[in-house]
Amino acid sequence: MYRFVFTQVLSRFDPEDVHHLTVRALHLLSVTPAVKRLVHRRLAPRDPALRVRAFGVHFPGPFGLAAGFDKDAGCVEAMSALGFGHVEVGTITAHAQPGNARPRLFRVPRARGIVNRMGFNNAGAGAAARVLSRPRGVPAVVGVNIGKTKVVPESEAVQDYVTSARELAPLADYLVVNVSSPNTPGLRDLQAVELLRPLLAAVKEVADATPRRTPLLVKIAPDLADDDVDAIADLALDLGLDGIIATNTTIRRDLDAAGRGGRPDEHWNETGGLSGRPLKDRSLEVLRRLRARVGDRLTLVSVGGVEDADDVWERLLAGATLVQGYSAMIYEGPLWAHRIHRELSRRLRRRGVTDLREVIGLTATGADTLTGGNEGWRR
Ligand SMILES: Cc1cc2nc3c(=O)[nH]c(=O)nc-3n(C[C@H](O)[C@H](O)[C@H](O)COP(=O)(O)O)c2cc1C
Repeated sequence: MYRFVFTQVLSRFDPEDVHHLTVRALHLLSVTPAVKRLVHRRLAPRDPALRVRAFGVHFPGPFGLAAGFDKDAGCVEAMSALGFGHVEVGTITAHAQPGNARPRLFRVPRARGIVNRMGFNNAGAGAAARVLSRPRGVPAVVGVNIGKTKVVPESEAVQDYVTSARELAPLADYLVVNVSSPNTPGLRDLQAVELLRPLLAAVKEVADATPRRTPLLVKIAPDLADDDVDAIADLALDLGLDGIIATNTTIRRDLDAAGRGGRPDEHWNETGGLSGRPLKDRSLEVLRRLRARVGDRLTLVSVGGVEDADDVWERLLAGATLVQGYSAMIYEGPLWAHRIHRELSRRLRRRGVTDLREVIGLTATGADTLTGGNEGWRR
């Protein structure tokens, strides 16, 4: 049904207009308590086998909404009701900013991807804090993703992140330092360990000082060299971070899906970050590399090109405790997360698994031999 609506109607409109309309509809859902509770009862994950605990936080299911959809935290309840096990809001910056000029969001449907150069359009940390402090009508796990305000020079980046962290860490179930979006000039340079260490250390001090000690994660780009992925993993361990989110969008275009469906997509070469199916292989590769490096000493959150329960399953087996997605929702519709959790639930039941921990990391380096080879677990 959604696919029909998408191809016949939505795909004819500007993707950002459709996004704003969707956010408005979701907001309406959020301000209608009875409907919100009903939707939550029908669609949110309820199977105890899907529950997962990461960095001290309880998640009703492993699959959550990646950052970038809910920039100003207005859809947390609606997206949780629709079946996401957590919602990562943002990226939020210390100061409100308009983002880049439109058009800045493009579908690349043959490749099942999205290109965006939004540039952290958001109403700022203060506004998000006001939204996040309101009581909620349905349970929701909320990650808050923070980034650098565009006009703030790199030399003042640490203070800018700290300002956001002070506002938002007390309201977050976990906090994410985003240094990996390609659309803020210079942002990804902060991934260099010499710059990243003081930044993460300063934000961690703020996160550690909240009454519940807010878990802190860093989100990295898929375009890092493998050695740099290792260096960030080592740094995260050294600083006592809680986890790593991998990955953000890519600036590469030499990826497998370019020619899918014959002709390349019209907007394939737009400037910006590419997400969705073309990112799948690299995102999985980075996850495997991180798992080989850190084992289960850090929580790994895998994101990039996840389209269905098979993809989520594969990431869990490869060592992710949580998995996120965004782009495929544009092609799959509002029941996407619900369907993924339902299928995962069936899969666990078929195998008699009552605790997701039995699955996480099962096919990560070395584990195959421990379990006597488990090809059958892959599906
Ligand atoms: C339109 C759009 C906006 C995004 N904005 C952000 C953002 O503000 N902060 C962030 O950390 N990631 C952002 N992302 C990246 C996603 O969180 C995710 O890491 C990436 O899209 C890969 O996942 P996917 O293939 O499931 O979309 C954005 C992605 C898209 C498609």
